[in-house]
Amino acid sequence: MSELATQLEELRRRFGNAVAGAPDEAGLEQVRIAYLGRNGEVTQVRRTIGRLPAHERPAAGKSINDAVGAMEAELQTAQARLESLTFQSELAESIDVTFPAIPAGAGSLNPVRRVIDDACTYFRRHGFAVVVGDEIESDYNNFDALNIPSDHPAREGFDSFWITATLLLRPHTSPVQIRTMQQHRPPIAIVAPGKCFRRDAVDARHLFQFHQIEGLLVAQGIHFGHLKGMLAEMCRELFGAQQSVRFRPSYFPFTEPSAEVDTTCPKCGGEGASCSMCGGSGWIELGGAGMVHPSVLREVGYDPDIYSGWAFGFGVERLALARYEVDDIRRFINGDPNFLEQLA
Ligand code: DAH
Repeated sequence: MSELATQLEELRRRFGNAVAGAPDEAGLEQVRIAYLGRNGEVTQVRRTIGRLPAHERPAAGKSINDAVGAMEAELQTAQARLESLTFQSELAESIDVTFPAIPAGAGSLNPVRRVIDDACTYFRRHGFAVVVGDEIESDYNNFDALNIPSDHPAREGFDSFWITATLLLRPHTSPVQIRTMQQHRPPIAIVAPGKCFRRDAVDARHLFQFHQIEGLLVAQGIHFGHLKGMLAEMCRELFGAQQSVRFRPSYFPFTEPSAEVDTTCPKCGGEGASCSMCGGSGWIELGGAGMVHPSVLREVGYDPDIYSGWAFGFGVERLALARYEVDDIRRFINGDPNFLEQLA
């Protein structure tokens, strides 16, 4: 074996011992500098090449490079081993695996969703189907078919977000009545919960995106008494057995007669006085209702001499405000887990 080979072999043996003995990454770096650094042992060996006869130099250079390659590989392996040791010891320091875990919390339903679910459950039990319409509506379904032609002043009551000249974000769920009646023959019994949109300034009682639940019953012999019974019973189911319901004469183009529906304020129990929930009236407004207008029935091809029906459209947030005695409608959408948990 040539002198150089012996030398390299001896150097690599010492290097291997030093690497194995390095206690940590800093120690390993010292070994690297001592052997492979600019003034390290390998450099010393390289300098001896100049003293060899010219024809031996290429082979000598190659054997040094081979040795360096092998040493660098050894360093890398050692480096990886030490890194993982460091990581393990850091883990052991900061994580106590016997510590009890933080219990995983389940979310709760938003009060608005709960009102929708409970109202739908009530109507389903009475044989109604739950349907959903589209949030983008045609002006025909939203207005014309509901007896609100384009020059009708009632359109102004719906401060709508228009998408094109004939498409809008629906400002109420009543167009679902039209969609349903266009597709089915009577008898019809549906409720349609969903999002509605109006260009309202946001405050404690208004959002520009809110929910309504629409109801529609069309068959032979349907009268106002059926409407009163269904809605009064719904209020008792949602608010409690003591609940009263009152119907005030009102006007909607798509119903005749039309009514505004109120229920006893759950906060003051109808006392009124200085109640902050109902403003002292003792009543909470739920929304509109009435007997489906003959023009609406005719528009969908139903004969108003044979069929009659009732309809209603209530604001879900209003129901939820009253039911959970919440003072500000914005609480329903700001996602505060404390608020939601409190009502869960
Ligand atoms: N769509 C009406 C509104 O948003 C509420 C309404 C009134 C719905 C009477 C009805 C109804 O179905 O019969 O103001």
